[in-house]
Amino acid sequence: MIAGSKDLAQFFSELSPPEGAPFQIFQALFRFVEAKVNTVNRCGIILTLIFFSSGCDQKPTNLHTSATVSFAGQVQPIFDANCVQCHVREAPQGGLVLEEGSSYQMLVSKKSSSTDMVRVQPGAPERSYLFHKLMGTQMQAKGSGLGMPLTEGVYSQLPPKDIATISAWIEAGALDN
Ligand code: HEC
Repeated sequence: MIAGSKDLAQFFSELSPPEGAPFQIFQALFRFVEAKVNTVNRCGIILTLIFFSSGCDQKPTNLHTSATVSFAGQVQPIFDANCVQCHVREAPQGGLVLEEGSSYQMLVSKKSSSTDMVRVQPGAPERSYLFHKLMGTQMQAKGSGLGMPLTEGVYSQLPPKDIATISAWIEAGALDN
C-alpha cells in the first residue's frame, strides 16, 4: 500500500511540473496522508511486538512444562554450579546446605533461618524464601541479607532460564524427583 502510494506520488511529480500552486497543495496533502499511514503502520508493529514480548514475560514458567522438571536432573545442577561453594556442609552460610543429598531436606517446607517464611513452599514460588532470594526480593518477603547467588559479595542474579526452572519445580509441587 505504501509502496503503491509512493509510485503514485512519483507519477504525479513526473506528470506535471512541480511549480503550480494547486499541485504543491496536492503534494503536501499527499505527504501528510502518507505520513499518517506510516505512523499507523509503525504503531501496529510496535503494538504487535509489545503484545508478543509481554506474552513471554508474564509467564516465564510456561516455557517449561512443570511436570518435566526434575530436582535431581535440573535443579541440583544449578546449586552445584552456583551455590555449594558457600552452602557447604562444613560451614553452611545462612544455615543452609545445598549439596546433593542434603539440599532437598534443607529446603522443602523448612523454615528459613532469617524470616518466618519457609524456604520452599510446594506449589507457591511467591511464598518460598528461596525464590525471593533468587529474585532479589527478600526484603519484600520480610527477610534479610542479599539476593542469591553472591559473587565477590555482590548479588549476581542467575540467568532467567535457571530461575524459571527452579520456579517451575516449586510450582509443580517441589517433588523429590
Ligand atoms: C559467596 C557465597 C554464597 C553463594 C555463592 C551463595 N550464597 Fe546463599 N547465602 C550466603 C550467605 C552469606 C547467606 C546469609 C546472609 C544472607 O541471607 O544474605 C546466604 C543465605 C541464603 C539463603 C537464606 C537462607 C535462610 O534460611 O534464610 C538462601 C535461600 C540462599 N542463600 C540460597 C542460595 C542459592 C540458591 C545460591 C545459589 C544460586 C546461593 N545461595 C549462593 C552466601 C552465598
